Formats: sequence, structure tokens, C-alpha cells
Amino acid sequence: MSIITLPRKIYQQRDIIDNIRETLQLKEPILLVSDRNIMKLYGQRIKNALDGSDYRVIEDVRPEPEVSDIENTYRSLSGFQPKTIIAFGGGSVIDFAKSIDVKISYPDRSLEEVNPFEPLNLKADLVAIPTTSGTGSDVSFGIVITDQGRKLALGNFDLVPYVSVLDSSLVPSDPSIIRPTGVDALVHSFEALTANTSSIFTDALAEKAIETIFGNLDRSMKGEEDARENMHLAATMAGISFTNSGTALAHALGHSFGSTHHVVHGTCVGLFLPYVIEFNSSDENASEKYARIARRLGYKDAISALRDLYRRIGQPLTVAEIGIPKDAYMKSLDSMVEKALADSELAFNPVIAGDEDVRSIYIKAYGD
Ligand SMILES: [Fe+2]
Repeated sequence: MSIITLPRKIYQQRDIIDNIRETLQLKEPILLVSDRNIMKLYGQRIKNALDGSDYRVIEDVRPEPEVSDIENTYRSLSGFQPKTIIAFGGGSVIDFAKSIDVKISYPDRSLEEVNPFEPLNLKADLVAIPTTSGTGSDVSFGIVITDQGRKLALGNFDLVPYVSVLDSSLVPSDPSIIRPTGVDALVHSFEALTANTSSIFTDALAEKAIETIFGNLDRSMKGEEDARENMHLAATMAGISFTNSGTALAHALGHSFGSTHHVVHGTCVGLFLPYVIEFNSSDENASEKYARIARRLGYKDAISALRDLYRRIGQPLTVAEIGIPKDAYMKSLDSMVEKALADSELAFNPVIAGDEDVRSIYIKAYGD
């Protein structure tokens, strides 16, 4: 059996947040969850839009929030019972808001008890307003938080936000943010396309997202508005695709490498994707899908297509290009391999990857 999950509604329009109260008819009281950076940039806009509503604000969500942050915030609400929670920010803010909804609905349970098998009856409708084009958290059923430095990945279908609001006027214009988040969305699409849990439903979204990202990422980095809007939609399409299919080996390699050498998520997973495509091409079904998408993009194969895009946007193709010294990288190899093999995303890869496979991709990807 496969289950397809989606938000109840996805709104898409530039500047839509300025009329969010009338457009969405939000149930009150409202809890607005965000971070200091986003509130500095857009706090006044969202506050103006919510003017006259009964709402409270949490604006101190940190990147990769800790379970203890969520518990503290929940206690600081001292009984406040929102009917709507607006998550206004990137992946960390959205995951934080999902976690608060769980705490409000199940005050006596610990977050670790959330699992995919037991339905959740959440008390507040979750409205996600993503401010980056990449994570897909606005349409996913996952929560990634940390517990004393340890990554905690939780999932439940009832955590898919009720509504996602796609307003490209909120996306930062800095190419150094647009590039890795856009590449992340591209990797989500490629991995969802060939994951062993893919279906024609997820394929359709993944293929269109790949095509849209290829046609718009470099132009969105130059600030072209129509391209920014298209990227914002494509990232959410990729999000729906991977949340109903999976991400796989490039994510397992990227998580391990990124946490070891402190490199941004999208840059890491993007770097390993061409090597993963080469590895996965031994699977006939994956190979056919890569060939089909390459034809659609007008290239002879998917790896050439990626290399060309990466060169155009300045995404590194090798670890050496990132500037990590070879001896430090090689010294970390054993622990990177171990962590990658323990990554849950590996289960979705179309070809089983063992110790030697992961090791040889890491060595090849250094590229020197
Ligand atoms: Fe990702």
C-alpha cells in the first residue's frame, strides 16, 4: 500500500502574506512561530497582516532546535491554546512549530514518542509559510530536531501542515542562500524519482520539479522575479514528491559529510548526487528514469546535465573544490562511512550500498 499525503490547501501568490488574515480565514487564537532574522526582515509585514487578531509570537527559534527549547517554549505559553499555529521561516521554524503543536495536543507525552503508526489528533491547524525555496518541510510529515546534539528524526502523516502558503516575496535574494536551497530541492527530486518507494504520482512531481529548477535556478540567483516564483513552487513540488517517496544515498552521504566538515546541507547533497547517479545506474529502472529526464532536459545523460548546471551556478562538483584539505578528509573517512551507513535514508536507495560502495564514492568525490 502507498499513502499520498498533502496539505489541505496550497496558496501561491507573491505578497499574499499581506492579506493572510482575510484570505485564509484563520481560526483564533493564533500562535506565530518564527526566528529573529525573519522577524527583522518581515516581522512588521506579518504583524500588520494579523492586526486585529488574537495572536501571540514566538520569535526566538534557533537553527536545528533542541528538544529542551521546545519544552521551554511550551511551558512559557502557560496554558495558551492556539487554534492556528503559523510557522513563518525555514525548515527549523516549521519543524519547531510542528513540535509545539504536538506538545499542545499531548502535554504529557515526550516528543520522542511520535511515530508513523499512531495517528495524532492535533489541536491547532498548522499553516506553513516557508521563507526558503528548498526544504519541503511545508508539505512534509517529518520533524528533524536535536536532542543534546543527537539528530532526532520523527514522522507522522498528521504532521503534514494543514495549509502551505507560497509567497516568493519572502525568499532571500542572496545567491549564497538561493544556490544551496535550490540544489537541495533538485536532489530531493532526483532521489524521490528513483527511490524504491517512488510511484507515478511522485515521479510526475519530481520530473516537473527537476525541469523547473533547471530552467529557473540560475535566473532566480540573478534576482529575476518569475524565476524566484517558479523556484518556490518547484521546491514544494519536490517536497511533496520526496515526502511521499523518499530521499536516499546522496542524503545519507551528505548528512554525514556535512556534519563532519561543517558544510551547508544543499551543497553537500548536491555534490554527491552525480556520483550517486553513476552508482544507481546499475539498476535498470533508475537508469531508465535518469535517461528519460536527461532527454527532457536536452542532454545526453543526467550527469552531464547536472555538471552543466553546477558550473553555471557555482555549485562544487568535488570536495576539493570546497577547499577541504585532502589529509583531513581522508582521516575522517572511516567515521563518515560509519555515519552514512547508519543513516535511515539509505533504506530508500534503489541499489543497496554497503561499506565499500560508500567508501569508494567518498574517495571518488574528493576529486583531486
Ligand atoms: Fe535535503
